[in-house]
Amino acid sequence: MTDRVRAYLAGATALPAIVAPMFLVSSPALVLATCAEGLIGSFPAHATRSREDFEAWLVEIEAGLKREAETAAGKVAPYAVNLVTHETNARMAGDLELCIRYRVPIVLTSKSAPRDVVARVHDYGGVVLHDIATRRHAEKALASGVDGLILVSQGAGGHTGSISPFGLMNEIRAIYDGPIVLAGGIMTGRDILAAETMGADFAYLGTRFIATPESIASQAYKAALIETDASGLFYSAAVDGAPVNWLAKSLIAAGADLDVLRVTPPGKVLSSAEVGKRWVDVWSAGHGVGLVRGIEPAREICRQLKAEYAAARQAMAARLAG
Ligand SMILES: Cc1cc2nc3c(=O)[nH]c(=O)nc-3n(C[C@H](O)[C@H](O)[C@H](O)COP(=O)(O)O)c2cc1C
Repeated sequence: MTDRVRAYLAGATALPAIVAPMFLVSSPALVLATCAEGLIGSFPAHATRSREDFEAWLVEIEAGLKREAETAAGKVAPYAVNLVTHETNARMAGDLELCIRYRVPIVLTSKSAPRDVVARVHDYGGVVLHDIATRRHAEKALASGVDGLILVSQGAGGHTGSISPFGLMNEIRAIYDGPIVLAGGIMTGRDILAAETMGADFAYLGTRFIATPESIASQAYKAALIETDASGLFYSAAVDGAPVNWLAKSLIAAGADLDVLRVTPPGKVLSSAEVGKRWVDVWSAGHGVGLVRGIEPAREICRQLKAEYAAARQAMAARLAG
């Protein structure tokens, strides 16, 4: 199984990279642009307003990929949908039915270990990759039969892990030799090669794709990313309940007091009146944010990543030979 999934992912893509699902950022246009360049594109089902909207996105993506496949010179990669497999997600059952009906090629599960979801996705031949941030999460996910793990390390955008990518990768590789996707601050083609060198099969890139015309992030969010570097991020679990790297300026502009946030005890979540409307007025980015220096079309970024990756491989081969 492991080898089949690994071979499928490698064979279906032009670069070992997944453009990660991002709430209020991902869009059908972003998925189509990245898949057209041979990178796996994705979006969270919960980013759509309703089940009907989710289905409309699936229809648009399926039709767009079909059109691309008829004309593309290179590989058109499959797409992925993020499902929050947690009992608090009231839409889970209906969204899963739609994934099954449309035979979504790759399902990215997050939160709870998804035994039932895995069985249903496997029934139609789909692949399940599960988000983890610790070894305990990984063990639970593997026991539920997932096809691969997404290691969300320190420095990721969105809900982040707190363990260094080296530490997390080494811990998980010690217990698992199947497909691993590494996330956290990955921004360049050279970073993707570095992730492979560390033992990953694929890299997961979110922040690199927020400031694109295809993303549905607001213009203000995109502009804020362009002027922020990693030192402008503020790590807190008190805004959303889970740890997130936030743009400090967006928190301040929304009226948050960073000193209050710093001393908020674990488990306490401040109200939106105190910290602004999370994800809408206060924005997240990964530690790679300093490389975002303009709004660039997603296809251009993909091409740049592929060129950087090829150059990094050549440079590394020369270095090893020398
Ligand atoms: C604004 C934003 C929203 C996100 N929303 C989701 C989400 O809805 N579901 C999910 O699985 N991951 C979400 N993520 C996390 C990404 O899928 C991915 O793990 C992360 O962006 C990787 O780190 P990077 O941003 O440093 O590349 C989000 C990330 C960002 C920046």
